[in-house]
Amino acid sequence: MDKYFVIGCPVGHSVSPQIHNTIFKHYNAHAKYFKKRVEPRDVEAFVEEFKNNDCYGFNVTVPHKKTVMPFLDGISSEAREVNAVNTVVKKRDSGLTFGYNTDIKGFALQAKRAGCSLKGAHVKLIGAGGAARAIAYSVYREGAASLTVYNRTVENIKIITHMLRHVAYDDGVKFPVTMMSLDEFDAGDCDVLINATSVGLGIGHEEEMPVKSLEGLKPDTVVFDIIYEPSETRFLREARQRGNAAHNGLDMLIYQGVIANDIWCGLGAADNIELIDKIRKELTAKWQ
Ligand code: ATR
Repeated sequence: MDKYFVIGCPVGHSVSPQIHNTIFKHYNAHAKYFKKRVEPRDVEAFVEEFKNNDCYGFNVTVPHKKTVMPFLDGISSEAREVNAVNTVVKKRDSGLTFGYNTDIKGFALQAKRAGCSLKGAHVKLIGAGGAARAIAYSVYREGAASLTVYNRTVENIKIITHMLRHVAYDDGVKFPVTMMSLDEFDAGDCDVLINATSVGLGIGHEEEMPVKSLEGLKPDTVVFDIIYEPSETRFLREARQRGNAAHNGLDMLIYQGVIANDIWCGLGAADNIELIDKIRKELTAKWQ
């Protein structure tokens, strides 16, 4: 039996076991996925043990996505740019460990399957934390025309602008990124609007919004919120009330998981729409 893990601190809330164990069961894989609470001081020891045991992959959640990086043999260029690893694989032939960030392709796949084209899109992103960095990188890679980032602390947006200027320079292209304070937020003039802050997260916080209003939102702007619990934040509700297509963060969570599973096992879960629907239904039922 192959064992896989998610490590974090805390890790009790993670639904990754549901996602991966459903995939393993679907493909009759001889594998099982577990949660493991690892304190920050124990991350290095965990990775050393992983290098020497018969496990071949693990996920990384808060607060270890950066901490884990120096202990790996290699890191994908995307994860290096975003400065966060959420998936680690150990190659069966060499025993070498590699880190990836599947939130990046997870967001791109969520947008694509939602029928939202990021190519040529003018995107507004609210937030500048870890999740926002992965989404900003994804938006750039998918060929967006421009990105405007709003954040409470404008200084924190610089990490995103530096990252994107660096990759755009390497790619030899110009990519317009604008930094704005939350107070200057205006929902108009964009094709895609994303909330990547934690405002509205958790039962009892549904009525909190990162911005004052969605006034001016164009009817065809596609709206995303990275939050999936509650399933409908006020941000999403107001967008839907205006008639806009609006998606919560559940699919990004599922897609980062199926992509990670494909990196480890190559079962093809990311392309299996029926299986993804099944996972979505299971998780939705869990929260009802
Ligand atoms: P994650 O890894 O989930 O992205 P994070 O790195 O802690 O979490 O980032 C949280 C994001 O939510 C940040 O953009 C944060 O804004 P600051 O950079 O100003 O801290 C934003 N955020 C959190 N609480 C907020 C609040 N009450 N109002 C506005 N923005 C908030």
